[in-house]
Parts: sequence; C-alpha cells; structure tokens
Amino acid sequence: MSDESSTVLTIDRDRFHADFDTLASFGATAEGGVDRPAFSADHQAARRWFARRAEEAGLVVEVDGASNHSALLAVPGAEKTLVIGSHLDSVPTGGRFDGAFGVMAALEVLRRVKESGIQLSVNLMAIDFTDEESHYVEFLGSRAFTGKLPLAELQAPHAGRMSDAIAGLGLDLVAMANCGRDPQEYVGYLELHIEQGPRLINSATDIGIVESIIGIRFHRLVFTGQADHAGTTPMEIRRNAGLGAAAFTVALHELLETDFTDCVGNVGSMVLAPGVTNVVSKEAAVDFEFRFPDENRGDALEAQIKDRARSIAERFDLELEFTPMGRARSAQMDPALRRIVGEAARRLGLSAVSMHSGAAHDAQIMSAITPACVIFVPSVGGISHNPAEFSTREDCENGANVLLHTVLSGFGG
Ligand code: GLV
Ligand code: MN
Ligand code: MN
Repeated sequence: MSDESSTVLTIDRDRFHADFDTLASFGATAEGGVDRPAFSADHQAARRWFARRAEEAGLVVEVDGASNHSALLAVPGAEKTLVIGSHLDSVPTGGRFDGAFGVMAALEVLRRVKESGIQLSVNLMAIDFTDEESHYVEFLGSRAFTGKLPLAELQAPHAGRMSDAIAGLGLDLVAMANCGRDPQEYVGYLELHIEQGPRLINSATDIGIVESIIGIRFHRLVFTGQADHAGTTPMEIRRNAGLGAAAFTVALHELLETDFTDCVGNVGSMVLAPGVTNVVSKEAAVDFEFRFPDENRGDALEAQIKDRARSIAERFDLELEFTPMGRARSAQMDPALRRIVGEAARRLGLSAVSMHSGAAHDAQIMSAITPACVIFVPSVGGISHNPAEFSTREDCENGANVLLHTVLSGFGG
C-alpha cells in the first residue's frame, strides 16, 4: 500500500491473521491444507468458532434454515442490508484460503466498521454460506438464501443422504428449501476470494475485479454393458462398460482442446461395477462437470458431449444414460459495484484488473436477487483446491482493505 494511503482506515491485520490461522486448524490436514466438507464435524466446529468470534465482537449471530451462519452489524434506521462473505466448507483435499479468506475478511470488516464508529447507510452482514463446494447440493446455502433451492434436490443429494448429514443439527429439509429471503431487503453482495488461477500473480497485479463468472453443469453418465468372465470371454465380443468411461474421458478432453477452447471440463469420478478384475465391467458411472462463458456456449457444448457419448456407446455396444446433476448459470457482476471496487483499489494505491472467473462462487447465485461482485487477490503459483493453495499476508490484507473501502465508499452514511 502507498504512503499516501497509510492514514486511511485499515483492517486490524494482526487480529485478521490470527483469526485466519486459528480457522485453518479446523480440519487441518498433514499436507497443510484443510478437509472440511459441508456438515462434517470439522466444518461444524469451524462455523461455531466463527459465530463465537462474531459474538465476541458484539455482532448479532443468526443461523438460518439452510445453516447459513451470519453476523449482523445493524445500523439504526437502516432498512436494507449489504451482505459480504463466502464459505467455510472446503473440498476434501482443500487449501486454507478458498472461501475461508472471504469469510474472515468479512468478519474483520464488520468489526473494523463497528470500532470506527462510522455509520453506514445499510446494515452489514458477514455470511458463511453452506456447501458452496457442492458436496451434497450445488451452492446449497446461497440458493436457499435466494429462495431457489427445490426440495427435490435436497432429497436427492450427490453424496449420502441429506437427512444423515444434518442429523442432530436442528435442521430439516423443508425448512431448508423454504428459507429464501426477500430480495427487497438487500442492496448487494460482495465476496472477497483468492483468484485460484495464475493471472494476477503472473502480471504482478494486486487486485482482480470480477466482471463475469462461468456457468457450470454437473452430469452423470452411466454406460451399461454385460458382466462376463474376464478370462474366458473373447475380447471382440465383450461389452465392457469401463471402455465407454475411458473413451468418454479422452473424448471430453479432446473436444475441449479443439472446438471449445473457451470452456473447460473434468471427469471427477468413475465407478466400475462390479469392480473386480475377473469380471468384465457391467456398469460404469462417470461423474463430470463442464464450464463455459455463457449459456449458449454451455448448450452447444452439452449437445456435443452427448453426441460423443452416444457414439462411444454405439462403438462399444453399450447402453447409455445421461443424468443432469445440477448447474449454476453464468453471471455478470454488477458494473456499479465493480466501479466502486476499482476506485477503492486505486485510492489504496493498488493495481487492479477486470477479469473473468473460471471458478464458481456464491456471488453468481446471489446475483440473481441483488447486485453482486467478487474481488480477487493473487494465488501463488495459481494453485487451488490443493493443500498448497497460498496467498501472501500482504495480498490478503490488500484484499480485505479493498473490501473495507468498497463498503465505506459505496455504503457510507
Ligand atoms: C468452486 O470452488 C468451484 O468449483 O469453482
Ligand atoms: Mn472451491
Ligand atoms: Mn470458494
């Protein structure tokens, strides 16, 4: 930060880093990351700790029907609320920063605004959304918040059973599906996040201002063939479902490298049944996702993926079932918020660039009901969803200060 900006209000960096480090101890892994899937014991413990820290700061804590944890700094007379936050859950082999950084920064901003005595024109809410990483249901918390989470999805989660996941937490599925808020009560949503890619670090830029976020669709393909003796069945008559899964994985990759270079995709799981070497695989379930800049491209890519899967099934004499498992629409971030973020960065002497996000964020869900914007800080090596995920303390402070000043200049009294 430049000398000129050293007199402006900034976060309490020691408190912020100490809290961030404490949070990383919940679900800490030997590799230096965290394993905190939604509703796991470590996730719950992290959330309780977050709520305690907020209460200690004199903020009003609320846990809603979808288990979104929030802390509120209420402003007398203010009718509307600005929401800032991210998520405390992680992917199974996650890093310490994804989501956690944004929630801790949001809490710190509320504390700093409260301590400064500055009266905002809106209430300020720091939120930790449930299951951003979509372990059970895509963007469970933010979709519930926006009132766009059908009960049927909660009844058919990707992993296990939702009722088992929430047992003992005082939650129920109907209440989860029905805890949508009134959009009229909100003026916007801001999310501070690590970039999770190499662009900022490679260009030595301090801040990324997100203008658009990819769309994402999740699907399951099931190839069905015939179980047969793996020693006696001639190779040329086998109907091996595993071949379909393998060929599909390669075909998806090739499609994205040729005709859809503006999109990405990933096979994340392949389960063969019966899953033993001496039986030709009867069934192969392939879970994959693909991401795209806008819905038209998403539709075109989906059609091509289906075509490829069908011809692979035909080639290996397999049956094919294609099941959509969820989606999040691509989204544009709010131009007015982006401008305020840019001005905040400039006033703090920080370089900033507008950019697209290839990672999904609760902000794209929230953008359906309120103006939203995501602020990025550099990720060292561009690495994320990995224990090695890292952003420097200075970059984290810079991001938190940009968040603070976006709040102050956009919503000051
Ligand atoms: C969220 O972490 C994503 O998968 O982009
Ligand atoms: Mn993530
Ligand atoms: Mn995230």
